Amino acid sequence: MEKVVIVMPAYNEAQNVALMVHELFSKEFPKIDGVEMHLLVVDDFSPDGTGDVVKNLMKHHKNLHILQKEKEGLGWAYVRGMQYAMHKLHADAVLEMDADFQHPPRFVKPMVDAYLKGADYAIGSRYIKGGSVPSEWALSRKAVSFFGNLFIRTVLLNFKVHDLTTGFRLSRVKGVLDKIELEKLMDLDRFAYKVDLLYQCLKNSKKTVEVPLEFAARTKEKSKFNWKEMVATFTVAIILGIKDKQRFIKFGIVGGTGFVVNFLGLEILKRFGFTTFMATLLATEAAIISNFIFNNIWTFKDKVITKVSDIFVQFFKFNLSSLFAVIVQPFIVSGAVSIFGDTSLVRLGALLFALFAVVLPYNYIVYNVFIWRTWKIPKFSR
Ligand code: GDD
Ligand code: MN
Repeated sequence: MEKVVIVMPAYNEAQNVALMVHELFSKEFPKIDGVEMHLLVVDDFSPDGTGDVVKNLMKHHKNLHILQKEKEGLGWAYVRGMQYAMHKLHADAVLEMDADFQHPPRFVKPMVDAYLKGADYAIGSRYIKGGSVPSEWALSRKAVSFFGNLFIRTVLLNFKVHDLTTGFRLSRVKGVLDKIELEKLMDLDRFAYKVDLLYQCLKNSKKTVEVPLEFAARTKEKSKFNWKEMVATFTVAIILGIKDKQRFIKFGIVGGTGFVVNFLGLEILKRFGFTTFMATLLATEAAIISNFIFNNIWTFKDKVITKVSDIFVQFFKFNLSSLFAVIVQPFIVSGAVSIFGDTSLVRLGALLFALFAVVLPYNYIVYNVFIWRTWKIPKFSR
């Protein structure tokens, strides 16, 4: 039977956690068929006795667990909890959930259902149809949440997922969580680690699903989130966004050196008496070879191909994809000329268009998907 462990950090949530255990074990878990549901509370020795409340309840619920440690911040609470869920409880999936009823327990079932239907990663989303933020929230608070999210979506260039800061998410262990070095996530002492965790999970997940979440207002005690957490969250998003683009920048630089090799090669070979055709052909192949080498050892150094047989195969594919670029450019340029007239401005414009809008993105995608295989083709559905 599938085992889903809810990892629930709780700091000074004695009242909430008692109600939460009751509601999950007596109302929600029985609704979920065919899955062994567990709840793991991660307490940082809360002074209000949250830990004792849980320990007492554990006498009545064998699927209730507690992990206690010194207070190190929300991210660490989750990391320890997830490691315990994976290695000690042997979870097949882990659900991140708050203890304060802002993630209403009735939304646990739809998340588990999404997982049972094959989702690797289910995101409890406030910004899709059926989801919402508390109506009690002041307009300013709603705006901060909405625009904060939009900002993160923009810097991460992720417009498919609508809620990147939600704390209600379910991830499959195999292939998603177990591939992440949790202790190395950024800003684990803060809420901001959530963006990094989400980013890593999205990368590993082949099927991501957003599930509507009606985010509720807090009833007891107050939130531990504040503007410092917000700034840290934006910073993590910006760093991830830049890291993401680093590879693209390197790819662009390698492309530039390829152009130089191509140009110099042509001039040198001409001086050695080659025909223009042969000189161009050889110089182009020299550029393809140097591009392959630099992309292999620099742009994609984390995925460097070293096995000789693999080098041959991937280099062959690399040549094929370069061939496409060589062929597609004349079509674009002659097409543009026949539509807009045969002027040097049109030819230049068409060439630049072919290069930047077609060849560059095309090559980048081919390299990432087929040659160095840094991207998996994700399925995305609601
Ligand atoms: N063990 C432990 N240690 N638990 C903690 C800590 C900590 O240092 N800090 C917070 N928690 C627990 C709280 O007790 C609660 O169960 C949960 O983590 C979320 O904390 P809240 O203080 O209620 O945070 P929030 O409601 O402001 O933030 C929610 O919304 C954010 C933005 O949408 C959370 O769902 C965040 O995950 C989410 O990013
Ligand atoms: Mn909360």
